[in-house]
Amino acid sequence: MKESTLFDEMRFLNYKFPVPQYLGAKFIHRGWIAQFIPDDVHVVLDAFSGSQSIAYMFKQLGKQVLTNDFLTFNYLIGKSLVENPGFTLNPQDVEVLFSENANPGYFNLMESLFGGLFFMPEEAAFVDSFRSNVARLDNPYKQALALSIMCRSMTRKVTMGHFAHTQALVYASNADRVKRNRSLVRSLRDLFLDLLPEYNAAIFDNGKTNVSYNENILTLLPRLEKVDLVYFDPPYCNSHADYQSFYHLLETYVEYWKDKCFVNGTKRYEPKRYSGFDKNSEVLSNFRLMFERAAHIPMWLISYNDRSYPNIDVLIGMIELYRKVKVERKMYGMGRGGKGSVAGSCEVLLVCTEK
Ligand SMILES: C[S@@+](CC[C@H](N)C(=O)[O-])C[C@H]1O[C@@H](n2cnc3c(N)ncnc32)[C@H](O)[C@@H]1O
Repeated sequence: MKESTLFDEMRFLNYKFPVPQYLGAKFIHRGWIAQFIPDDVHVVLDAFSGSQSIAYMFKQLGKQVLTNDFLTFNYLIGKSLVENPGFTLNPQDVEVLFSENANPGYFNLMESLFGGLFFMPEEAAFVDSFRSNVARLDNPYKQALALSIMCRSMTRKVTMGHFAHTQALVYASNADRVKRNRSLVRSLRDLFLDLLPEYNAAIFDNGKTNVSYNENILTLLPRLEKVDLVYFDPPYCNSHADYQSFYHLLETYVEYWKDKCFVNGTKRYEPKRYSGFDKNSEVLSNFRLMFERAAHIPMWLISYNDRSYPNIDVLIGMIELYRKVKVERKMYGMGRGGKGSVAGSCEVLLVCTEK
């Protein structure tokens, strides 16, 4: 390889993706996955992008990246860290975001739903007032960045980093837990200010027109032409597939739902968005449909594990109608891995190429 080409390929690798805390994130596997991407791949789609850790890795490799997740808070991370060519938040922006509630009569949703449940009422009121000021930033990338950092601040403040339990404030008053994780008692304002430099420093322009989408992948796929490679990391049926139960609070915050019901102890919104990949009864027919609709994309990489429904052999049978499949496996180290993985199980990547 010529030295200049090597330099071109390496120049974005010094940027650092802010470490995510997201069920099923492939952040720790990104280097392993990267080795299966051929050099002649230029346009890449991350179909189920979640925390955006793999879409960001594609951006660092200099690819044109199309990234998609059906949840809006994930789409906003994609907008701020993948699509964004260079807009960051400066001290004036932060002053705007931290100023008084621009419309307290409207921006009170978090306090009314989650005050006393996930956050103390004054912290919930703070995120409402922050939310009211986001529209005052003069640029959609800055707005997306502000919301993404606040969402991350909220997951840092809550034990286990998700909202499918009702123990947040109980844990936040438990001295042992606080000793292990100081974030539980820090203010959202401070957590935001801590994270801000990391997020600002992660923003760069790779010279490509990258796009973040917010759609169900089944409807998006047929519209995307000229994609060289698609990466599929679907929810794994049988283990934590219902992302809306875990992260409903973040979706409620960014959407600022006023027309939903909020149900059960966690106040999850209802009705939920339709995934098609989170119920055993639907997932087989939707995988079939998805592969049919991806037929025009030459190469597919698919993350999977050996504890999901359908099992890997069934999934491979579906893919082989369209592509040759090679199964790559990476063993987890002790106790590491996503989605409740156990030591000794492994992460699977299906490398699917044209027949
Ligand atoms: C396993 S996670 C992806 C994790 C991601 N690779 C990462 O590193 O963070 C699966 C993602 O699929 C999204 N999702 C579920 N159903 C979807 C659908 N029908 N269309 C698009 N995204 C969907 C979920 O919101 C979730 O973020």
